[in-house]
Amino acid sequence: MLVRTLCLILASLLTAPAFAQNKPDLSKLPWMNVSLSPDQRADMVVHKMTLDEKLQLVNGTGWGVLREGDRVPARSNFGAGFLDGIDRLGIPDINEADSAVGIRMAALQSRYATLLPSAIGAASSWDPDSAFLYGAVIGRELRAQGYNMSIGGGVNITREPRNGRNFEYAGEDPVLAGTMTGTLMKGLAAQQVMSDIKHYAMNDQETGRNVVNVLLDKKAMRESDLLAFQIAIGISQPSGVMCSYNLVNSNYACENDYLLNQVLKKDFNFKGFVLSDWGATHSTVKAAMAGLDQDMPGDDGFFGQKLKEAIQGGQVPMSRLDDMAHCVLRSMFVAGVVDHPPVRSVVDPFRGLEDAQHIAEEGIVVLRNEDHLLPLTTQGTGSIVLIGSHADVGVLSGGGSAQVDPPGGNAIHPEPGPSKWGEAVYFPSSPLKFIRGKAGGRNVTFDPGTDPGSAAQAAKSAGVAIVFVTQPMREGVDAATLSLPNDQDALVETVAAANPNTIVVLETGGPVSMPWVNKVKGVLEVWYPGIGGAQALANILFGDINPSGKLSVTFAKTEADLPHPQIVGMEIEKKTKLRAADAKAAGGEEEKHLGQFDLSYASEGAKVGYKWFDAEHKEPLFPFGFGLSYTTFTESGLTVDDVQKTVRFTVRNTGRRDGTEVAQVYVALPTAAKENYKRLVAWQRVALAPGESKTVALSLNPLYMSIFDTGKDAFTLLPGEYNVMLGSSSRDLPETATLHVQ
Ligand code: BGC
Repeated sequence: MLVRTLCLILASLLTAPAFAQNKPDLSKLPWMNVSLSPDQRADMVVHKMTLDEKLQLVNGTGWGVLREGDRVPARSNFGAGFLDGIDRLGIPDINEADSAVGIRMAALQSRYATLLPSAIGAASSWDPDSAFLYGAVIGRELRAQGYNMSIGGGVNITREPRNGRNFEYAGEDPVLAGTMTGTLMKGLAAQQVMSDIKHYAMNDQETGRNVVNVLLDKKAMRESDLLAFQIAIGISQPSGVMCSYNLVNSNYACENDYLLNQVLKKDFNFKGFVLSDWGATHSTVKAAMAGLDQDMPGDDGFFGQKLKEAIQGGQVPMSRLDDMAHCVLRSMFVAGVVDHPPVRSVVDPFRGLEDAQHIAEEGIVVLRNEDHLLPLTTQGTGSIVLIGSHADVGVLSGGGSAQVDPPGGNAIHPEPGPSKWGEAVYFPSSPLKFIRGKAGGRNVTFDPGTDPGSAAQAAKSAGVAIVFVTQPMREGVDAATLSLPNDQDALVETVAAANPNTIVVLETGGPVSMPWVNKVKGVLEVWYPGIGGAQALANILFGDINPSGKLSVTFAKTEADLPHPQIVGMEIEKKTKLRAADAKAAGGEEEKHLGQFDLSYASEGAKVGYKWFDAEHKEPLFPFGFGLSYTTFTESGLTVDDVQKTVRFTVRNTGRRDGTEVAQVYVALPTAAKENYKRLVAWQRVALAPGESKTVALSLNPLYMSIFDTGKDAFTLLPGEYNVMLGSSSRDLPETATLHVQ
């Protein structure tokens, strides 16, 4: 016993100095003085750092949990990214978690994370408060789980409506997407967690994402994709910006001097750090000199030993490495993760659910409501049958690195544990249960929809048939077409033929075509509605919530109306995959390599979504900005102040229910701009009681009305007459006025 005690004392004596050296008294470190600016504090730390310590901040470690068999760093919190802190200087580890729509991989540690509605759905609320709340939910749960950085924040605009990741992004318009994503990240950062905006830039499709060379001129790029980033970055000043996999004008995004140094760091004045998407770094010297600050997850790929050698050999100056480390440290000080590190606690699932439900209620869009079938009445005659898409047990979620683990496992075959990549994962928010809960005297039944004959039978005997259709989408794969998969169009047709009161509920990652649209009475786009999705849907179906969501994307009738009727590269990708499979089956070398290919956006340029439909005089299935309410509104009295660049108008609720209108202001530029489309420049959600009216004043941000002048390398507001349009969607703009710019 005595020997053991002596050994323990000896051991503690031996380890104590090391401990004391590793964990200094923070209050004695000069950069812990919070009255200094984050830049000053970061500089002081950099000054004290060794070369290896600086490298430690720019070279992430471990694919960890993402790749079977890979080492998980000892202090990692099981997120997708990890960087060791510098204990002796009081700099904490960086634990990064994917968190586009909630925290990913929480189940790995038996934790719970709230699944929020998809970002495209939240953007369809057009409500910055909702976006702020969205970020706050993620931020507070990240902190509770011990993470100090989010790597969510996707703001790639919907150039490609079949993009597998559209559900992670905020729609097609740069001003709406930038505002919503920027505000979301602001809400997240307010929880003292480091924030991120991604995937910079032009990563608008998943097909060939590692090899696709996106071609677009600077003017169009600055007025579209990059404008969304500019706005989001301006609003949130994020800690990090993640550069994407693809090439842009023949340079990989993570070694693209134009994108990183010139636009992001100089023009946008971004002061945080650029981190690579996972495996998106392709060089050491070129990437470092082009503005990449952190290679993720690194594993010594390009920014470890190789960067050290480049520094020692003089190809990368030490000042550049100092700058990289400075940007990382500065972001840590700004976010508060050094002064207020996350304190682990238990996530509050009830609060998360309530917030998720609220966001879903604002983002669900009612697209069709013939004969005022909606809201459903509790006294109505006849039963209600729900058909298809596992509506008895749950709602669909989006996959890939945005996948959140459902409590209890996939609701369609519950078993605990993390979700599997590629699987369509349902969350236990049961439409059947919540619709039953609202239906009063009406009987509510369920038919799985797997046999159209039985579905039709069930529909025939019901008063109302609600068909649930789903489009599972995920990172890495685009949808080949706009059509719903698995013959669901045929299911809708069959049910609609059997019951005149058919309503379709869409759980999709983005726009889909609806060949049956005129045969059904109701259509609701609920997106992937999150853990409170069924509650939100039931509230809208029965009118406890008056819908106010408006589309953040255009719904095309068919692929033929899109700038690219087929996804560029999909055929080659498919063939390459087939070749790989053939080679494997034949026992040969697996040939996986998909060569680089070009994707030119020259024909559409900045004309993304509704701008394309306007310019091409095409009729969409449902236009951008469209969404029905159970009441009616008018917008009137539009006036413009040329000097202040503001508009004023009145919105009135002309119906019989409380409701919220999203009044939208678009502008067409003077003819000198040679633009044959309009731009969204401002909007306001206005809550009104029946008969009530409110006057709204909005400023028109000159940036949103400017053209990018490549000669001057700057945005310019052209002099001339701007046609200002006001209304309730991009295709319903009854009020106009003129803004004169000198
Ligand atoms: C995705 C990123 C994600 C990263 C880490 C990549 O494949 O493109 O969005 O953050 O993986 O999981």
